[in-house]
Amino acid sequence: MLPIGPLMIEHRLIERMIKVMRHELLQAEGQKKINPRFIETATDFIRAYADRCHHGKEEDILFRELKKKKIASEHQAVMEELIEDHKRGRQVTAGLVEANSRYRNGDEGALSAILECVRTLIGFYPKHIEKEDKNFFLPIMGYFSKDEKEAMLMEGYRFDADLLHEEYQEIVKGAERRLPPKP
Ligand SMILES: [Fe+2]
Ligand SMILES: [Fe+2]
Repeated sequence: MLPIGPLMIEHRLIERMIKVMRHELLQAEGQKKINPRFIETATDFIRAYADRCHHGKEEDILFRELKKKKIASEHQAVMEELIEDHKRGRQVTAGLVEANSRYRNGDEGALSAILECVRTLIGFYPKHIEKEDKNFFLPIMGYFSKDEKEAMLMEGYRFDADLLHEEYQEIVKGAERRLPPKP
C-alpha cells in the first residue's frame, strides 16, 4: 500500500463524523439548543483522530519527507495551504471546545458561537480533504522511490501504535491528580 492509503481511508471516517455534525447543526438551528455531549464527542474525535493522528501523520511524516525534495511550485503552494488549513482547524476546534464548556455551564448565549464553529468545520473539512485526495496526494507520490514510500507507510503504522500508548498515559496522568499530595 502507498503511504497515502491509510490517510485516504482516514478521510472517509472524518467525512462520516462531518455528516453527523451537519445533521446535528440543522437540528440545533431548528430547536435553538444543542446536546453538549455530542459536541464533546465531536471535538474529542477531531482533536485525537483528525488532528493528532491524521494531520500528525501528514505533517510529521509525509510533509516532512516532501520538504526534503525539490518539488514543483504548485505542489509547494498546496502543501503550505494544507498546513495553514490544519492550523485553522485547530483554532476553530479550540473555540468550539471553549464555547461548549460555557454552554454546558449554563451560558445559553454560547450557542451561537458553537453553531458558528460547527458551520466552519463542516465547510472546511470536506474542501480540505478534496484538495488532498484529488490534487495532491497522488501527484506527490511521484517524488518518492519505492523504498521511501514503504518506509513512510511503516513509520505511519508506528506513529499510530505510539499514539495509543500516549493517549492512555495521559489518561492515567489525569486520573493521578485525584491522589492525595505526596507528603
Ligand atoms: Fe490534511
Ligand atoms: Fe488529510
